[in-house]
Amino acid sequence: MRTMELRLNVNGSAQRWTIAPGELLLDVLRRQGYFGVKRGCEKGECGACTVLVNGRAVNSCLMFAAQAEGAHVLTIEGLAEGEKLHPIQEAFLDHGAVQCGFCTPGMALSAKALLDRCPHPTDAQVREAMAGNLCRCTGYLKPVEAVLAAASGMAKPPRKRRAKAEVTR
Ligand code: FES
Ligand code: FES
Repeated sequence: MRTMELRLNVNGSAQRWTIAPGELLLDVLRRQGYFGVKRGCEKGECGACTVLVNGRAVNSCLMFAAQAEGAHVLTIEGLAEGEKLHPIQEAFLDHGAVQCGFCTPGMALSAKALLDRCPHPTDAQVREAMAGNLCRCTGYLKPVEAVLAAASGMAKPPRKRRAKAEVTR
């Protein structure tokens, strides 16, 4: 099998991985242990596999890993700072926006991409930014409320990391 070397930065750490040229970013990230990157539809429809590549939310099931050469990738595992949850994660918890949690990593990362470029979004902008993230538990209102709360600094003081909010396999 042909292989190639992929160099990229994931969650602040430089990585050098051997991949097959046609491998998807989703598959490579999960193989490397980033299980917060969820495998859903594999067709670009559900957003469960969302990661940030150079700050932009992408469906990792639609991107070749090789396309991430030299990129900065953020997965949900890199959103918290040690024990301190990101305000978006705090707000998701405070607003009961997590049910089974399968869609949550993708939603949180789409929200981060939005808030990084638009710190004070409208309700409509939040809905638009998260339109590509489907929730099989049908929870849509609370995540929008959570993102708006995070944006307005209404999330409560940081608490210790909760495993379910971050990673569900
Ligand atoms: Fe990538 Fe559904 S698994 S969009
Ligand atoms: Fe279950 Fe969204 S919380 S899929």
